[in-house]
Amino acid sequence: MGGHGHQHSDADAAAMFEAASWEERYDSEETMWSGRPNPQLVAETSRLTPGTALDVGCGEGGDVVWLARQGWRVTGADFSANGLFRAARHAQEAGVADRTHWWQVDARSFAAEGRSYDLVTSHYLHPPDGGMVEVTSRLCEAVAPGGHLLVVGHAPAEVFTQLSASHRAAMFHAADLLPGLPDGFEPLVVEQRPRTVTRDGVTVDVHDATLFARRTT
Ligand SMILES: C[S@@+](CC[C@H](N)C(=O)[O-])C[C@H]1O[C@@H](n2cnc3c(N)ncnc32)[C@H](O)[C@@H]1O
Repeated sequence: MGGHGHQHSDADAAAMFEAASWEERYDSEETMWSGRPNPQLVAETSRLTPGTALDVGCGEGGDVVWLARQGWRVTGADFSANGLFRAARHAQEAGVADRTHWWQVDARSFAAEGRSYDLVTSHYLHPPDGGMVEVTSRLCEAVAPGGHLLVVGHAPAEVFTQLSASHRAAMFHAADLLPGLPDGFEPLVVEQRPRTVTRDGVTVDVHDATLFARRTT
């Protein structure tokens, strides 16, 4: 899930980070839905007691549906209305619609505004120009005291050399996000985790930049 398989010129790259580009992708016939949750989500949250969760950049809702099946009440957030529409349909088909909510919002400008969640998670959201540090601090504002934050993205690697320079620059290592953690957050996992991906019959090794933290106060 969450990969980029196409070659883009730098001139196109800026537009690729905006909602219109994702609307187009989700409007196409091709479904990106695998139905499987992301592995770091399963690894880190399986032992948590289900409560409320927010998944920012939820796309087609694979993680939202999985969390809801585990007993969480989940809000899926994304700036693409088409993505959220697909996600809501998947939640309906999975029989968990009553435990899911949807929020169309841009991660770069969203504000928790009093909303708080026991788990805030985000997978493969790569805002340009190092924007994930600020997004991380916005995500933290939505974490309830005692709650957890999980941010996962692509770590830069050889395998991504066919992508535009801006796409590669948007990738990050887990430690890059630490400046986005406010006081009162204890980092529990700050590492790159290996993962094997098979796409179009080709198997490659990638690394998930994984930041998992707990809000202590
Ligand atoms: C690579 S997909 C990952 C989707 C899902 N988390 C997964 O792992 O399958 C990135 C998602 O983030 C959304 N997205 C990208 N930039 C965003 C932003 N600035 N604000 C909100 N959503 C954004 C896209 O619409 C897309 O659904």
